[in-house]
Amino acid sequence: MSELAARPLDPVVGDAVPHESAVLHSTGTAMYTDDLAVADGGVLTAWPVQSAQAHAIVTVDIAPALEVPGVVRVLTADDVPGVNDAGVKHDEPLFPTEAMFHGHAIVWVLAETAEAARLGAASVRVEYEPLPSIITVPEAIEAGSFQGIPRTVRRGDPESVLATAPHVFDGVVEIGGQEHFYLETHASLARIDSEGQVFVDCSTQHPSETQEIVAHVLGLPSNRVTVQALRMGGGFGGKEMQPHGFAAIAALGAMLTGRPVRLRLNRTQDLTMTGKRHPFHVVWKAGFDDDGRILALAATLTSDGGWSLDLSEPVMGRALCHVDNAYWIPNFVAQGRVAKTNKTSQTAFRGFGGPQGMFVIEDVFGRVAPALGIDAATLRERNLYEPGQTTPYGQPVRHAERLRTIWHDLARSSDFDARRARIADFNAEHDDVKRALAITPVKFGISFTLTAYNQAGALVHVYKDGSVLVNHGGTEMGQGLHTKMLQVAATALGVPLESVRLAPTRTDKVPNTSATAASSGADLNGGAVKDACEQIRARLAAVAGRLIGVDERDVRFSDGRVAGLLASGPWYPFAEVVEAAYHQRVQLWAAGFYRTEGLHWDTEKMQGEPFKYFAYGAAATEVEVDGFTGAHRTLRVDILHDVGDSLSPIIDLGQVEGAFVQGAGWLTLEELRWDTTDGPGRGRLLTQSASTYKLPSFSEMPEQFNVRLLEHAAEDGAVYGSKAVGEPPLMLAFSVREAIREAAAAFGPPGHCVELRSPATPEAVFMAIREARRAGAAVAVAPGETSGSDAATARAASHPLVASDT
Ligand code: MTE
Ligand code: HPA
Ligand code: MOS
Repeated sequence: MSELAARPLDPVVGDAVPHESAVLHSTGTAMYTDDLAVADGGVLTAWPVQSAQAHAIVTVDIAPALEVPGVVRVLTADDVPGVNDAGVKHDEPLFPTEAMFHGHAIVWVLAETAEAARLGAASVRVEYEPLPSIITVPEAIEAGSFQGIPRTVRRGDPESVLATAPHVFDGVVEIGGQEHFYLETHASLARIDSEGQVFVDCSTQHPSETQEIVAHVLGLPSNRVTVQALRMGGGFGGKEMQPHGFAAIAALGAMLTGRPVRLRLNRTQDLTMTGKRHPFHVVWKAGFDDDGRILALAATLTSDGGWSLDLSEPVMGRALCHVDNAYWIPNFVAQGRVAKTNKTSQTAFRGFGGPQGMFVIEDVFGRVAPALGIDAATLRERNLYEPGQTTPYGQPVRHAERLRTIWHDLARSSDFDARRARIADFNAEHDDVKRALAITPVKFGISFTLTAYNQAGALVHVYKDGSVLVNHGGTEMGQGLHTKMLQVAATALGVPLESVRLAPTRTDKVPNTSATAASSGADLNGGAVKDACEQIRARLAAVAGRLIGVDERDVRFSDGRVAGLLASGPWYPFAEVVEAAYHQRVQLWAAGFYRTEGLHWDTEKMQGEPFKYFAYGAAATEVEVDGFTGAHRTLRVDILHDVGDSLSPIIDLGQVEGAFVQGAGWLTLEELRWDTTDGPGRGRLLTQSASTYKLPSFSEMPEQFNVRLLEHAAEDGAVYGSKAVGEPPLMLAFSVREAIREAAAAFGPPGHCVELRSPATPEAVFMAIREARRAGAAVAVAPGETSGSDAATARAASHPLVASDT
């Protein structure tokens, strides 16, 4: 076991402690960015003027707004001292002359109250010179409207294998997007201090990048701008790149007026202005042998990037690297391109393209299993990676044996086979409701695909009384990163958890940080916190060794006691050793640094080892589908998930449960709709509130929810043997979609293949059931074709995908 992964005898990591802010969260006393504004006198509120057209040249007349009582100023492009752009790719004018989507902010009004700002914004006159707009991906493909660089992952010779494979299928699938719907909408609060320093509180996952963009817009060097991220009421990727422009508006307002400026989007503004999970359009072709082994897959993925690039290129990169999910596909080609449309700029969302990539192969297996005459669970199991195999992009699948270990353990604990038999009986007895139980695996790569991002810093102070203050580069969004970092520091210094406090994340404490994203917050910042603590501990060990009279290498730190190896020997309280060290002029603070070793990635060739390791898991989900409405209930979910040796089991269980439910929401409930007509509302987001955008709530929770973490799973080379947890379990939710598909199939004849729209809303499921019933009716009234109920003929008749079945 590496030094990074090894745990001391009595670690604080691994303890089941509550979230560090649990009491504050549940009593409503936790402070969020916009709460800070209330304490501030004289705060101005910023309000956007949003485009009412999807694509148009805009000219504004701000004069009427300045007449509105309480309006102080209207911010326009003329006010920008630096660069009028908020995009990391320099393709996002902060004050545009060309509105690129319905809802695009054109100018911002500053006023004494939110109400005055709103009225001011409503009275700004905007003139539109309409331009042609592109709303859907098929429209973009037709028009050749793309952005960024297309990429391809390739292995073997998929084209020739597809030409000769015994069973070949093809299909087209549209994958829906998803709104983050974090509880806290985007928020920034900016002020200028007495020294002219710009200070921005911001709900951001990426404070350093927010700082950079604010500095660019203001025309200042980065050392004049500080960004603080106190905590977020959820980010889910939506605050990785999208907060920058809002922070810049607040900072610009503060700079021009000398007063604090708050900007907090209301829900509809947040929904209509900010990016979402990328919808994808996928065309695929897959070849199988007679035993159901996949021989080749060819797929073209087109994502809907919206009006600017944002993170669309790396999202597509991760999608292409996850089309294989947990399966060995010897001949493979996946091409990816980003469509440019007149919509919000789609962005990071939990899984970062991984879910859309994995959707493709899970959809293939789910659709073709009946045509191959192989049960879907068997088909999936048969194609799982074996140890020694590599991914299509050339990375060895280390610990691939865990996939089968998890699969079989879960099948046992979920009583899979017996329940499937009972479900078959249930379905035989019920015409109008059907049940199904599906199992799906997850393999998810951990590390930023942009190798440079895999670094982190920390700043740890030990005060003279022995109390510890930790700063690190990661942000807290509810995922429990701060809790884990407290546990890491307490473990590394050998002090009780209560002696350690965490300070809010700030760019003047730890600079040049990466986004808290890619699930790697604990891996990266944990490595840095541990490094800082170990530097301090080594210095304290020298002091303690002299006090105790032992060699410094034999000094042990545990639970606030510092002792030699001998259990019966003398020991000193941590605080006494610290006090002694101070008097000996020993440095009691340290800056820590961590970078992930062993990564290499060629973005152009899409080959290499972009990931430090893979997170594994599997889920078995039973649903019941109503034949009259298409609505489903999730009766029972069993999950076995690999988080290495957990740093914090309560936190990790919460992450697995939350991610699963969020994934199920994406796949079964949440549907984004835009107006695609040619009318005046073209391009408008129709689902712009919680009343039209259906989120999972208590009633959609699984009735039985059994989540287990894989035991004895220490990951060598990661902090205290743990693995990242934030995103991977979201993709366990494919088991819900696949169970719904199988339940819909049960309304039809044996061997019926179900095409399921995504999301699998009641409406979509109802359509699938209707198709299944029609296939059954066709079989029943066509005795000539299906004499002797020949299963193969019935399959061919009801299977819409078969391209060639030689
Ligand atoms: N959990 C909560 N409660 N809120 C969030 O916003 N974001 C997810 C995940 N879990 C999120 C969450 C996403 S998208 C990521 S990348 C990780 O947390 C980021 O945090 P980590 O790297 O510390 O796991
Ligand atoms: N995940 C999340 N965010 C990112 C990534 C990634 O792989 N790469 C760049 N930003
Ligand atoms: Mo998460 S989508 O990497 O913020």
